[in-house]
Amino acid sequence: DGDVYKYYSDGEWKKSSSGKSVAIVNPTTRKTQYKVQACTQEEVNKVMELAKTAQKAWAKTPLWKRAELLHKAAAILKMHKDPIAECLVKEIAKPAKDAVTEVVRSGDLVSYTAEEGVRILGEGKFLVSDSFPGNERTKYCLTSKIPLGVVLAIPPFNYPVNLAVSKIGPALIAGNSLVLKPPTQGAVSCLHMVHCFHLAGFPKGLINCVTGKGSEIGDFLTMHPGVNCISFTGGDTGVAISKKAGMIPLQMELGGKDACIVLEDADLDLVAANIIKGGFSYSGQRCTAIKVVLVMESVADSLVEKVKARVAKLRIGPPEDDCDITPVVTESSANFIEGLVMDAKEKGATFCQEYKREGNLIWPLLLDNVRPDMRIAWEEPFGPVLPVIRINSVEEGIHHCNASNFGLQGCVFTKDINKAILISDSMETGTVQINSAPARGPDHFPFQGLKDSGIGSQGITNSINMMVKVKSTVINLP
Ligand code: G3H
Repeated sequence: DGDVYKYYSDGEWKKSSSGKSVAIVNPTTRKTQYKVQACTQEEVNKVMELAKTAQKAWAKTPLWKRAELLHKAAAILKMHKDPIAECLVKEIAKPAKDAVTEVVRSGDLVSYTAEEGVRILGEGKFLVSDSFPGNERTKYCLTSKIPLGVVLAIPPFNYPVNLAVSKIGPALIAGNSLVLKPPTQGAVSCLHMVHCFHLAGFPKGLINCVTGKGSEIGDFLTMHPGVNCISFTGGDTGVAISKKAGMIPLQMELGGKDACIVLEDADLDLVAANIIKGGFSYSGQRCTAIKVVLVMESVADSLVEKVKARVAKLRIGPPEDDCDITPVVTESSANFIEGLVMDAKEKGATFCQEYKREGNLIWPLLLDNVRPDMRIAWEEPFGPVLPVIRINSVEEGIHHCNASNFGLQGCVFTKDINKAILISDSMETGTVQINSAPARGPDHFPFQGLKDSGIGSQGITNSINMMVKVKSTVINLP
């Protein structure tokens, strides 16, 4: 039936033999917006087989040709920015302008990946044996970078297009094939993005996109013997995947509880602006969102006032109107956020605004005087609710940051660059931003989380290198 979006395999759009579909509920209307195929395990098996075969030929395709196709896909993706953005608005309630930005950023990412790939994959090493004790000059070692095989890419709901291409681009340029499993919310945006790659003319079977229920094909995909690498972005599921996956390279970007440490000499207007951007953009549904403010007591009143004034100016409503705060992705997510808010209320946090919710729409909320016994001091709301913890020393702030099980990013605000660098050294996070909110981009910067925040490092160059293996050929002279 024409109402259900088809999945993509062997260069074609197909209906699942299950005859079943998965509904995608619009977070704003809370009504079914789209339906996608509920693929079966047999279909996954078939896709894995196709991907394996296609990869062999692709690995032999000249690097410049792979790059050319990626550049083509990037251009087509940008041409389709409006219809894809429209899907993002309907499926994940991303504000209209941010939705367009996500697609454009994705096109740029794919182009950059093609350029970077031709440079870094086009060179290898040459080593001679006599530098190691006991050896003569009789062995020459030539190294090159070879693809891993089939890459399984699993992006999250909050960037279904961008965090899909950040895996697809590096995988393809490096000579791998792909099986993509989109998130349920965001699946149609993902399929539309795949269509752009289809139009670019990649070989059949090289890129495959299966949709369906996690309970039916989730573990089946991640534990499939045909998978040679998993690149996953999301939440706790990533921890489970990494425990169950086989002996294959993993790239994981999971949650974060990014701390914002504010010193007494900080420019408080700059801090307030960054707290709004960092804490409330896309309603806090970013792994790199500021998720706890740790501010020195002497400047806390002043900072809280400045943030409150800016929160009051945020526009709250539907994503179509490009509001700043839009409905969170699902009802269960809204319920979880509400649970954290209620816990903080019972334990005596100061509410800087009244708590308000209509459906999945939660009004932005700053919670002051949060203490370590409150859940929100540690847990990730993934919503527009931000706790403020007042600290009496920088050490206290660093201690709170490092006591978290997460270690994605953090930020520190001070005019004293020497202090900032020392604090950055002490923070157990993959990245520390000095005088700005955490962010993944620009997309060629390394991006990584410590502890429960991830495995490996991303960013275009690191992702390409992660999706290849070094191969040596040794020439033995008589
Ligand atoms: O949600 C996780 C993303 O990697 C964050 O990306 O910093 O560009 O919003 P962003």
